[in-house]
Amino acid sequence: MGLGVTTPLPGFADASPTFAQPFDMLLACHARTRRSLHLLDRLRKRIDQHGHDAHTREAAGDVLRYFRKAAPLHHEDEERHVFPALHDSTDSELNLAVDGLQADHARLEALWRAIEPVLRDWAGEPPQAPVEPVTHTRIAEFAQRYFTHMALEEVAIFPTALAHMNEQSLSAMSADMERRRVGPAAEIIKGARRAATGPNSSETPAMRTSRRGYLRRRRVL
Ligand SMILES: [Fe+2]
Ligand SMILES: [Fe+2]
Repeated sequence: MGLGVTTPLPGFADASPTFAQPFDMLLACHARTRRSLHLLDRLRKRIDQHGHDAHTREAAGDVLRYFRKAAPLHHEDEERHVFPALHDSTDSELNLAVDGLQADHARLEALWRAIEPVLRDWAGEPPQAPVEPVTHTRIAEFAQRYFTHMALEEVAIFPTALAHMNEQSLSAMSADMERRRVGPAAEIIKGARRAATGPNSSETPAMRTSRRGYLRRRRVL
């Protein structure tokens, strides 16, 4: 049986929010992180008990792709937009929480750098590495730290940051998240739209549908 995960996101009415809803995008990314962590946990147990096979190689590749590309972008979203929104807070507990979350990012990234070479082997042909005790320990800390971290962000940080942000800062956050993910492609699409409709015209429904479809295919959460 395969190890892949494609289950819907519990608790989210729209599993594919657009860049116009940046905090929904952050929550969707948390859901994908949780799924990837559960997959990583099943993967290490499966290899430990049964060794490598095609399913474990595929699962290792999925986990690798997620934490290589999407997780760093997500940390950057928070460090560029969410944490700074709380910098002026006079709530010392909140300030301490933000400092702790920032330190968590550094620790999670260090853990990932230690776990990644093992996953590269597991995703390779033929995989060789068993699950060393230190790998069990690192994966367990990686998951536990991520789960605690995301729960704190969802309960205390995202709602407070959202309350501190105005329409302009939310719009800048959306644009920056989109630019860092789809880069020049988004600029080309926007340029074409401006050329077709003029800088002050609003997007037509057909263009909006087309653009969203395109961005959804290109999206890396
Ligand atoms: Fe974070
Ligand atoms: Fe987060």
